[in-house]
Amino acid sequence: MASPANPFSDPLRFERRVPECAIVIFGANGDLTKRKLLPALYRLAHDRRLPESFAIIGNSRTAMTDDAFRERMRESVQKFSEDTEFDAELWDRFSRNLHYIAGDLQDAALYAKLAAKIAETNQRNALFYLSTQPSYYAPVVSHLGAAGLNHSTDGWRRIIVEKPFGHDLSSALALNAHLQSVFPERETYRIDHYLGKETVQNIFGFRFGNGIFEPLWNRRYINQIQITAAEEIGVEGRGEYYQEAGALRDMIQNHLLQVMATIAMEPSAVFESDAVRDERAKLLRSIRIMKPEDVQRNAVAGQYKGFREEKGVRPDAQTDTYAAATFYVDNWRWAGVPFFIRSGKKLPKRVTDIAIQFKAAPLALFGSASGESSRPNLLILRIQPEEGISLRFLSKEPGDGMRLRPVSMDFNYGTSFGERSPSAYETLLMDAMQGDATLYTRQDMVEASWRVIQPILEDWGNRKFTFPNYEQGSWGPAEADAMLGKLGLKWRSS
Ligand code: BG6
Repeated sequence: MASPANPFSDPLRFERRVPECAIVIFGANGDLTKRKLLPALYRLAHDRRLPESFAIIGNSRTAMTDDAFRERMRESVQKFSEDTEFDAELWDRFSRNLHYIAGDLQDAALYAKLAAKIAETNQRNALFYLSTQPSYYAPVVSHLGAAGLNHSTDGWRRIIVEKPFGHDLSSALALNAHLQSVFPERETYRIDHYLGKETVQNIFGFRFGNGIFEPLWNRRYINQIQITAAEEIGVEGRGEYYQEAGALRDMIQNHLLQVMATIAMEPSAVFESDAVRDERAKLLRSIRIMKPEDVQRNAVAGQYKGFREEKGVRPDAQTDTYAAATFYVDNWRWAGVPFFIRSGKKLPKRVTDIAIQFKAAPLALFGSASGESSRPNLLILRIQPEEGISLRFLSKEPGDGMRLRPVSMDFNYGTSFGERSPSAYETLLMDAMQGDATLYTRQDMVEASWRVIQPILEDWGNRKFTFPNYEQGSWGPAEADAMLGKLGLKWRSS
């Protein structure tokens, strides 16, 4: 291929290639495989990151030939690879490496077939991807161990575990203990796809690559931090799963606490997997655990009107389709700074962002201490969909006198780099195959974040909410505004 005019648009510029391996996907007939995993693997093939020799082995209960599986996956890749043109020739080459084995996850014979298939494809390394119903995680891990698929003398064996990782603290502890009895921690990859998003990775770059923000990144200069993950969609056919999970478990326990940890952690001495994860874990352990009597003041549950009529949802479901909480970090950097986190479905739009509000200037030299001319500086990290960063500051209005008005300085990924960002799953799959766990969560991190939300889960489990309490297309229940109102604050309009 001729070298591209712009070296930055060369997909091989980082020279990251996947080593030869077999990827075994449990739950290959599920939504995640269709929407995310196969499109990500196909994109890696498109970018020439995959080696000549690799194998993808799908498993589910449905009987299917290799060819039928390939056909299904082709349809999914065509449908869900929005930003990659479908190349029939490439697909032919890629799909020759797709295999399928039907079988019951509880049946030992399945694992013997898998072992034979891995051998037949001549792969020394194997990555198992658990994308089944969570209740199968423990039995699959046991069977992998019993079949000797958890170790090899001439290659590696790794496992990726999809979320949800447990349903509460005790189930997460039990799952961790079970996993660790079969796979060593260094070969265990707990996925949190938010950490794979370019914009979340860029929090490291922004904070630790620039000299000017870090000195301000503390309680002396920062007043409050708001993290919002709003979705316009509802439960989209996942009613059965979602009514047991709810927004607090589905989004806050994992994605948003990881984002918060990335925003608030200390810099690590080196950018290496365990060094970075040590700092994120330390931060998660510093989040104040709410006392039972504090939960009602610091956490709000909501449910949209119409949720109980969704398919698979009980008519009296107490599920939170919206959750908001105020967290404090008890360390020297953050003591006293509130972190407000909210996430919900059926909100006015899809937006995930982090708003860091700085303290106002100590003196109102140019007018009143309230109103437009006194608005504090605000830094917004836009995770999605309009990926970028903006900084709001006050500027003099043209004309007579000294009237100030907030203005904004914007960085936008699309226009600055003008190229496609890899999807979170591309990044994370490649990382796991390369043995880099920096963007994966570790046992202690998962447990620490369950500890943070456990008191809320317990309180909510014992209450009977008057649901529904918010309209579809609104910004959630009034109680969420009241939670900030009591502190004299407001949610920023995202
Ligand atoms: C998943 C949740 O982990 O994240 C979903 O289970 C949610 O309920 C999704 O819709 C949001 O991810 P993203 O990448 O679209 O923000």
